[in-house]
Amino acid sequence: MAHRSAWKNRWTFMLATAGSAIGLGNIWKLPYMIGVNGGSAFVLVFIACIFFVGIPLMMTEILLGRRAQKNPLDGMATLANEAKTSLHWKWLGGMGMVTGLLILGFYSVIGGWVLSYIIEAARGVFTNVTGAQSTANFDALLASPLTLLCWHTVFMVMTMGVVARGVNSGLEKANNILIPALFAILLVLLGYSMSVGDMAAAYQFMFSLDFSKITPVAVLSALGHAFFSLSLGMGAVMVYGSYLKRDISIARTTVYIALADTMLGLLVGLAIYALVFANHLEPSAGPGLIFQSLPIAFGHMPWGNLIGTLFFMLVAFAAWTSAISLVEPAIAWITENTKIKRASATVGLGIMVWLLGVAVLLSFNEWKGVKIVFGLSIFETLDKLTSTILLPLGGLLMAIFAGYWMKKDHVQDELNLNDAHFKWWRTLNNIVAPIAILAVFLYLFEVIK
Ligand code: TRP
Repeated sequence: MAHRSAWKNRWTFMLATAGSAIGLGNIWKLPYMIGVNGGSAFVLVFIACIFFVGIPLMMTEILLGRRAQKNPLDGMATLANEAKTSLHWKWLGGMGMVTGLLILGFYSVIGGWVLSYIIEAARGVFTNVTGAQSTANFDALLASPLTLLCWHTVFMVMTMGVVARGVNSGLEKANNILIPALFAILLVLLGYSMSVGDMAAAYQFMFSLDFSKITPVAVLSALGHAFFSLSLGMGAVMVYGSYLKRDISIARTTVYIALADTMLGLLVGLAIYALVFANHLEPSAGPGLIFQSLPIAFGHMPWGNLIGTLFFMLVAFAAWTSAISLVEPAIAWITENTKIKRASATVGLGIMVWLLGVAVLLSFNEWKGVKIVFGLSIFETLDKLTSTILLPLGGLLMAIFAGYWMKKDHVQDELNLNDAHFKWWRTLNNIVAPIAILAVFLYLFEVIK
């Protein structure tokens, strides 16, 4: 096998994995999903999914990667070999690679929206903007395929530019400063929202304990989003784990990352809903929510243009480090199995994903009427297919493999937990998470039928 690069220490691994986890999922997707799925019901289930499914499965995925020391497809083959079971397990790795590319197809388009908002903020477009104007600005962006194409292309080039150079490119170091900076700016935003927005309503909307509002669809979406937000189920975390040295505690790293990731999403949610309620915006506005609500805050606060520009820059950065992890499994597989150079592989995959993104961006305007299945547009189909089906399915299979096929000693070797903690992980991984995922799938089949 070719020389594999490795993380220098626990800190760089943690930053890279946090960089993968923290992205548009927290800042763009979680807030609007909360609104679309009835507020607090969704939040509650989402938090439960993070703790009972997300955290244990993140540990599972890292341990699989570190044991295999390979890309997901060959890695699963190696592990299956070690467990003396069917090599077909490798298709689990294969499925993950495809899933990652499908996600990137729409991720890049939304990344493009963020890039365009950096410029808008810097140009002062948000100054004194009202809710209605802000919504109109966003609608104008969606209505312009050329603008969307331009920014989608820039985002893809940025992503592939880093991927072509390989891990250890230095991006993780930038994470070191930029993720804390994102938190800091968020606190400023939150403070501002608190002073001018309707924080009480936001809090009530997100955290009132109303179990009656929990619907099956909310549960389904919350589980899917727990996977999406933690980058689980497609091998991204597995590849990162494969570059990880042996002396690092998987459990502790996982808990830190999951907490940071979840907190960040919920803070953005609060900041946004305080503005949404104070400005009479629609909580269930969907994917445009942050682009319609945040400019109002930036447009009225002192230094708003500057703070807004910085904010969207940091979001773009977070999206960038996530996007990279969506392609890394496929690139690792190609370079470890063929003579194709990393750079050429990157260009090839980049063009394919770019084309997919073009279809996605057209689904917001020219191809708005095009429905793929169940009345879903191209964007919605890709989003639902990956988040609610492919990622949980990948996670389920990984949990079953680690829990029932791998030797217990091998698992314990990697996790290195004390007995009580190991029992916890095993119960969650072997029983709780699989049952939760299966239950959700059964429900999905009911709905589809
Ligand atoms: N977790 C990222 C976010 O929240 C998106 C992401 C990156 C992802 N890599 C992934 C999602 C792998 C699922 C699988 O924005």
